[in-house]
Order: sequence, then structure tokens, then C-alpha cells
Amino acid sequence: MDLFEYQARDIFEKHGVPVLGGIVATTPEEARAAAEQLLPAEGGVVVVKAQVKTGGRGKAGGVKIARSADEAAERAGEILGMDIKGHTVHRVMIAAGARIAQEFYFSLLLDRAERRYLAMCSVEGGMEIEQLAVERPEALAKVAVDPRTGIDQAKADEIVAAAGFAPEIAGEVAAVLQKLWLVYRDEDATLVEVNPLVLTEEGDVVALDGKVTLDANADFRHEDHAALEDKAAADPLEARAKEKDLNYVKLDGEVGIIGNGAGLVMSTLDVVAYAGEAHGGVKPANFLDIGGGASAEVMAAGLDIILTNPQVKSVFVNVFGGITACDAVANGIVAALEILGDEASKPLVVRLDGNNVVEGRRILAAAGHPLVTLADTMDGGADEAARLAHAAA
Ligand SMILES: Nc1ncnc2c1ncn2[C@@H]1O[C@H](COP(=O)(O)OP(=O)(O)OP(=O)(O)O)[C@@H](O)[C@H]1O
Ligand SMILES: [Mg+2]
Repeated sequence: MDLFEYQARDIFEKHGVPVLGGIVATTPEEARAAAEQLLPAEGGVVVVKAQVKTGGRGKAGGVKIARSADEAAERAGEILGMDIKGHTVHRVMIAAGARIAQEFYFSLLLDRAERRYLAMCSVEGGMEIEQLAVERPEALAKVAVDPRTGIDQAKADEIVAAAGFAPEIAGEVAAVLQKLWLVYRDEDATLVEVNPLVLTEEGDVVALDGKVTLDANADFRHEDHAALEDKAAADPLEARAKEKDLNYVKLDGEVGIIGNGAGLVMSTLDVVAYAGEAHGGVKPANFLDIGGGASAEVMAAGLDIILTNPQVKSVFVNVFGGITACDAVANGIVAALEILGDEASKPLVVRLDGNNVVEGRRILAAAGHPLVTLADTMDGGADEAARLAHAAA
């Protein structure tokens, strides 16, 4: 799960990363009130920042300076409702203005291929970092981080030295990097990026922007992470599937997919996409792994979710009987169709294989449901499901 900048800011603060004051606003009036709170009495600025989960907000006009509360309200009015790379701005953050002396870059991310973490750091941060990485990669230090030790004092010093920080601030930056490591480790993040990390005119090192991705597989360890979810942006079908504990991901195609085991479902998506090329380019409509115990209830819940998607024109059920044998799965499908009744209105291609396959096929054939076609092979089933989807489109 990607976080909004204001959420990253709060998490940074919780772990002792230096940040400036920031208050979220959804209307110009709220922005005015936030600015009144944040503007120093002796004069200064606040920054109005679009809260969208995409990069390049500044360049798109989503980051603006305001010198007064009125101006903050005005800027918020301009930024709210703006479209940034397909993301509508529903919130802004009013941030205390920093007097920036220098902008740096830091990120820590999961390096799956190397089975460790990777820290990237540069003394030339800011909005041109992508360009820097391409044109002068040597200016972006890359340092491997061992997950067992993380960014301790020695590793922080190594990163800071590799990036070439001036000795006067190296110590302070290294201290901040160790705090950012606490964010990464204690929140189970897969990405923590700060661009820019700045040195202020006052000599402080502060995180002015934050991008954090949390590992959803670790949600069970973090009850507080559920509150960070952007419910408004969640796909309604995915939300419903989640309530029923189904591993469902909505895609854009026409062929609904049900399988057991993530690996089998992934390859089913590939096979259906390939088969679809011969049938008007139809594609898989979703990923759905019903797991090992494919009971009638789970099958019915899965079919229900899939068929609720109006884009679905056919469904391919691809199950390999293991501990839950094919006869149990077949009974599950028959019972699920009974439970759904008229709700089940799209053709279903079923491919069963594995434990007790003969009995499974017999049960489905005996039930003789008008919408169900049996397939002998995965390729054959994918082709038939794609053909049916194309015919119905
Ligand atoms: N609180 C602040 N005070 C002063 N200047 C700021 C503040 N926040 C941001 N800025 C300036 O605005 C620039 C852009 O801000 P920010 O990094 O948050 O957005 P961005 O980089 O455009 O967005 P993204 O990181 O999503 O690409 C920063 O590089 C910095 O110069
Ligand atoms: Mg930034």
C-alpha cells in the first residue's frame, strides 16, 4: 500500500525523523485555518501541496507557496480538484515553509533480486532526480543494506560518504538515515523515499517530502495500518472480496478467472491472455485464488464477485485437485450455482484435474448445468472461455 505524503510525514514524525508541521485540508477554508496555525508570527510562508499517490506533483503545479492564510486558501482552491497524471486531488497538505539551503535525495527499498535492501542517496536531490539518475548515475550512490543489520551507524556513515556529503553535515544526515531505517523496519515498509531531504538555512536536516510503501503481507502485525487505507479509491469489488477473505484483484478484461493456488492462477491469466489473441483480443477480467479448501461457500462467494463485474462475459474455472479433491470442488461448483440461482448468468468453462478427477467430472456432467462446459486441458479451457467471451461481447 502506497501512502499519501501527509501519512508518510506522520509516520516519519512517530519515528523521530525531523519533519515540518503539516495539516491536511479538503477545502480552501480548512486550508486557511491550517495556514493560520502554521504561519509564524514573524512572517514566513506555507506550502500548499497536492496529496496524490503519484510523482511529479511540483512540476504539474500541485505544490505552491503561500505568504498568508488568504493566499493559502486561494492556492488550495486552485489545487483541489486538479488532475495530476489521472489522479484527482481531493486533499492538500498545508506544510510549514522551509528556508532551503540544499536539497538531497534518499531512498531505501526492497531489492528482491539480491534478497536485501538498497539505499540510494545523492547530494543533488529535488525535482530533477529522475534525470540525474539517467544522465549522471555516478552522482547517485547505491549502497546494499543487509536486512539483518539495517542502517546502523556504520552503514549510515558508509551511505553518507558514498554520496559525498560535506563533513559539516555528514553526522546529522547519518543520524536522520538511521531514523528512516526505523521507519522502514518497524512499519514493514518496502519503500521509504525522501526527496527532497533538505538542509535548511538554520542548519537543520529535514525531510520535506516522503513516499512510503507498506508491505501488505505484514498487515497482521500492524493494526494501525488499516486506518491508512484510502477507502474512497479502493475498487468496490476488491473491497467486497477482501471482506470475504478472497484473494481477488480486478483486471480490465472479459474472462473471469477462478483457480486454486496463486501460481496456477497466474499461469491461467497468461494462458487466457494468449488464447484471447485469437478471439478478438479478450483478456482476463481478474485474479482470484480460492486457495486449498474450495468449499461450496467459497466457490459461490468467488463466482458472485466475478459475475458482479459487468465486464465479465465468461468464466474459466481452473482447479487442480490436491488435498481438496476434484469431487469436492465439483460439488462446490454445483452447489455454488444453486446458491447463486439466476445471478449466475454467464457461461462457465471448468477444467478439473488432479486428485479424483474422474469423479469430479462425472459430478459436473451429471448435474448438466446449461451454463457449464467441461474442458479437458488448461489450454483448451482457456481457448473455449475466450471464444465464449468474444462471442458474447
Ligand atoms: N515545506 C516546504 N517548504 C519549502 N519548500 C518546499 C516544501 N515542500 C516542498 N518544497 C519545494 O517544492 C519542491 C517539490 O516538492 P515535493 O518534493 O514535495 O513534490 P514533488 O517532488 O514535485 O512531488 P513528488 O515527490 O511527488 O514528485 C521541493 O523540491 C522543494 O523545493
Ligand atoms: Mg518530491
